[in-house]
Amino acid sequence: MNIRAEIPTVDNSTNFDVVPEAITKVGSTLENLKAAVNGETGASAKYAASAIAAREQGYEQIARLFEATSAAEQIHIGLEMSVINAVEPDYERPAAPEAEGIQTDLNLIAGALGEIYETSDMYPSFIVKAVEEGETKAVQVFTRAKLAESVHAELYMQAYNNIDCPDDDAYYLCPICGYIHKGDDFEKCPICFTAADKFRKF
Ligand SMILES: [Fe+2]
Ligand SMILES: [Fe+2]
Repeated sequence: MNIRAEIPTVDNSTNFDVVPEAITKVGSTLENLKAAVNGETGASAKYAASAIAAREQGYEQIARLFEATSAAEQIHIGLEMSVINAVEPDYERPAAPEAEGIQTDLNLIAGALGEIYETSDMYPSFIVKAVEEGETKAVQVFTRAKLAESVHAELYMQAYNNIDCPDDDAYYLCPICGYIHKGDDFEKCPICFTAADKFRKF
């Protein structure tokens, strides 16, 4: 993902359209935030399990990618929970579901499909609603998650295509928005402009 002159937002970006035949059930923004937290909680648990499976199967670099994406979804949960808790202070995040990893190539494809759903269907649908309701904080949180999920999908596909020829790159996680960079040749997050030295290495 290239660095743009300005932080990408729903107003200056062109790839925020909802896919045809979208399957996302859209409610109020508050309901959508809770649905997003549920989805991210499931994804985070699945990636954590996929990381364990990848390590057992000898895919060390891919194990680190799954650990980084699992942590990224926790960042999205935190951002979404803070918007929820501003109106419902007692609302608690759901417990993580049981999750199990299968073969690493299939875990990567399943992960990419989930990320593509989120970036092209779920988050754009929620963004449309949040814009309509004037929920600016939710718009920002959904927008950052939408942009990060697309990069997660790209990294999963890259790992899938290179499963039998990994390199030595580490993955770096933006602690603010959940963006992940492969390798250390970067200066800042292309989504929220956080400096590279703030990133968490996997
Ligand atoms: Fe993701
Ligand atoms: Fe970021």
